[in-house]
Amino acid sequence: MTALHTPVCDFLGIDVPIVQAGMSTYTTPQLVAAVSNAGGLGIIGGLGRTPDELRSEIRQVRELTSRPFGVNHVMCRLDPAAFQVTLAQRVPVLSLAWGRSEELTYQAHEAGMKVIHMVATPEEAGLVASDGADVIVAQGTEGGGHVGMMSTLPLVPLVVDVVGRVPVLAAGGIADGRGLAAVLMLGAQGALIGTRFLATPEARGRGHSKDVILNALGSQTLASSFYDDVMKQAWPGAIVRTVRHPLIEQWAERQQEWADAADQLRPSLEAAVAAGDLVLAGESSGLVHDIVPAGELVSRIAHQAKELLAKAGD
Ligand SMILES: Cc1cc2nc3c(=O)[nH]c(=O)nc-3n(C[C@H](O)[C@H](O)[C@H](O)COP(=O)(O)O)c2cc1C
Repeated sequence: MTALHTPVCDFLGIDVPIVQAGMSTYTTPQLVAAVSNAGGLGIIGGLGRTPDELRSEIRQVRELTSRPFGVNHVMCRLDPAAFQVTLAQRVPVLSLAWGRSEELTYQAHEAGMKVIHMVATPEEAGLVASDGADVIVAQGTEGGGHVGMMSTLPLVPLVVDVVGRVPVLAAGGIADGRGLAAVLMLGAQGALIGTRFLATPEARGRGHSKDVILNALGSQTLASSFYDDVMKQAWPGAIVRTVRHPLIEQWAERQQEWADAADQLRPSLEAAVAAGDLVLAGESSGLVHDIVPAGELVSRIAHQAKELLAKAGD
């Protein structure tokens, strides 16, 4: 076992501890398969897909790879019919986030699936570990999309301490081998990465969203409840990190008014997201300097982490 090939790799049947986040409809079968074929774990985003669409995505991934892959479901917005598709298809890995469910974990285990569960606090980590999750993802607020309030640096070792022998993956702010090596030092056994995988040809962008990520500085993201307030969607414990955009900045100081103005603001918000002007992405956008095929990215991150870990061992 090398420093990079951690025990969770054997558990998940992967070569390197790099997991591509299941990012709703931003994932494609090509992205998922490319990551899995490169030795990482690709995850289909289940959120926002009908049961038929999800079934088709799973079928396409299976045509493109024979390696393990996963499907993500967001529990606070769960479509039970789509979840049943994931179960019936006996996908190798179920990825859960934003909510607890002993029952879903049990059902997945009964179907022979492994369960990885993302949390944003050490308290939640303890709970989902007792629900039977096989792997816990500790997601820091640096990440893109829906995130909690704690930063990756303290969150990961706190979660490691709470969950004992359950393997932990770190998420939030990791975009290269430096980040991966760093979280291994924190006690994580690998990394789950979202934003960096958006800047691949295989990811499904929105308009010029990939260019926005390429051009954004790490200091240019902002997390708030604006997105969910305007969309009128309940997402307990989460705020949404995006690259800064005038629409959000104009309203930044007027939080009291967001909910009241939601119906008026929603069309502009939806149009800005669809055009790729308003982009859900994390602070690691500042570390994204090229659009690179997802498989190459996995190799690049693994290679850099391996070199750093070898140097640290000298
Ligand atoms: C555009 C976008 C969409 C996302 N959608 C989901 C999702 O549907 N389900 C989920 O569990 N996490 C989702 N996430 C969060 C990721 O799972 C992950 O925690 C996060 O991207 C990690 O931080 P990073 O962006 O710094 O790599 C999303 C992230 C982004 C950037």
